[in-house]
Amino acid sequence: MGNCFGSPAQDSPSTAGTSNYHSNTTGFSTTSSNARFFEAVGVEDVEPDGQILETPNLKVFTFSDLKSATRNFKSDNLLGEGGFGKVYKGWVDEKTLAPSKMGSGMVVAIKKLNPESVQGFDEWQSEVNFLGRLAHPNLVRLLGYCWEDKELLLVYEFMQKGSLENHLFRRNPSIQPLSWEKRLKVAIEAARGLSFLHTSEKQVIYRDFKASNILLDWNYNAKLADFGLAKLGPSGGESHVTTRIMGTYGYAAPEYVATGHLYVKSDVYGFGVVLLELLTGRRALDVKRPSGQQNLVDWAKPFLSQRGKLKNIIDPWIEGQFSFKAALQTAQLTLKCLAVEPRNRPSMKEVVEALERIEAMTDRPKQKKVRSASHPSVPQHSHQPIHYQRSPRHSTEHGSM
Ligand SMILES: Nc1ncnc2c1ncn2[C@@H]1O[C@H](COP(=O)(O)OP(=O)(O)OP(=O)(O)O)[C@@H](O)[C@H]1O
Ligand SMILES: [Mg+2]
Repeated sequence: MGNCFGSPAQDSPSTAGTSNYHSNTTGFSTTSSNARFFEAVGVEDVEPDGQILETPNLKVFTFSDLKSATRNFKSDNLLGEGGFGKVYKGWVDEKTLAPSKMGSGMVVAIKKLNPESVQGFDEWQSEVNFLGRLAHPNLVRLLGYCWEDKELLLVYEFMQKGSLENHLFRRNPSIQPLSWEKRLKVAIEAARGLSFLHTSEKQVIYRDFKASNILLDWNYNAKLADFGLAKLGPSGGESHVTTRIMGTYGYAAPEYVATGHLYVKSDVYGFGVVLLELLTGRRALDVKRPSGQQNLVDWAKPFLSQRGKLKNIIDPWIEGQFSFKAALQTAQLTLKCLAVEPRNRPSMKEVVEALERIEAMTDRPKQKKVRSASHPSVPQHSHQPIHYQRSPRHSTEHGSM
C-alpha cells in the first residue's frame, strides 16, 4: 500500500451528487469510463490473496439514485438495522450501476445513516477509507457511497444469506441450523479475512469482529463487513494503539475494555468468541440467561479446558457431525484465542492453519462422534448486543434467499 488511508471527509460534499467515482484518498475525481470502474469493482475478480488498491474506486451515487434503487427506501426492501442505520435491498444496472427496475439488474445492499447516530460520520468515513481500498475474497465489496447534505449512505455487494448471526441464532424458523461443516467453512473464511488485514503492509485492526459482521453469500462464502471501527495498527515499534473504547460487549478483548489499548491480537480475542458461538450455538452475551451464564466466555471457559466436560457445551444441532478429536482441537484453539494476555494469543495466520487442519480431519470418515447429552437449556434468542457509545440496534430477519 502506498500512502496512509486518507480522509474523504475533508473533501467537498459539493462534488457528491454528480455521478462520478471516488478515485483517490484526498479528493474526488471524475471519470466517465464505466468500463474502467467495472474493471476495478468486479466482485468476481478479486485476487485470491487480496490486494490494497492504490486508490479507492468507488461510485458516487446521488441520493435520488439510491431512492429510486430502493423504491424510496420501501420497508419491504429492509434487510436489517444496526447502530449506523437501516440496510435496504436495491437494484442497479450491472454495468453502469444506475438505478434499475426492481427485480432487474444487480441486487445491492444500501446502508442509510440514521440522522440520530452519534458516531455516524466517523464510521461512514472509516468505511469508505478502509473498505474502499481493501479487496479480498473474504471482505465485503463496497461499491460506492452517497454524501448529500445530511444524507450518508453506503452501497455494498449484496450478500444473499445475510449475517452469520441470523443463521446461528435463528429467530426465523425457516432458516436451517448451520452444519458443523458450514460453521468451519465460515470460521476459516472469516479468519482469512482477518489474517489479510493483520498482515497487510499497513496493519489494519478490525475492532468489531462479531457474528453480525460476518455476511454470507448464496454459497455460504463468508465475508467481513463493517469497517466503521477499523483502525490502522501500531507504528514506530509500539505494541498497541490507544483509542476511545468502542465495540460490542461480549466480543471485545479484556485489555481493550480495561485500558483502551487496542492490539492486533484484540481481534484474535473477538475471533475466539465467535468460534465459541459456532461451537456452542450460544450468543456471546445474553442477559436473559441465568446469572453465571450470561457471558459466554466466562461460562464456557472451564468446559473448554476439560476433556470430559467439553461435550456438555457443544451445540446439539451439530452433535455427531465431527470427531471428538476435532472438537477438542477446536476447543483448544478457542482457548488460545481467548488468552487473557494478548501476546499469548495465536496470530490469525496460525488460526487459519489450525482451522484448516481441523477441516482436513473433519473430512475424513469419523469414528468416535461427539454426543452432547446434557446441553443445558437456556433461552437462545433473546440477546441484544450492547454497544459502547453506539446507538441501540434492532435487527430484522433474513430468510433464506
Ligand atoms: N451487504 C449486505 N448484504 C445483505 N445484507 C446485509 C448487508 N449488509 C448488512 N446486511 C443486513 O443488515 C443487517 C444490519 O447490518 P448492520 O451492519 O447495519 O448492523 P449489525 O451488524 O447488525 O450491527 P452493528 O451496527 O453493530 O454493525 C445485517 O445483520 C444484515 O442482516
Ligand atoms: Mg454490522
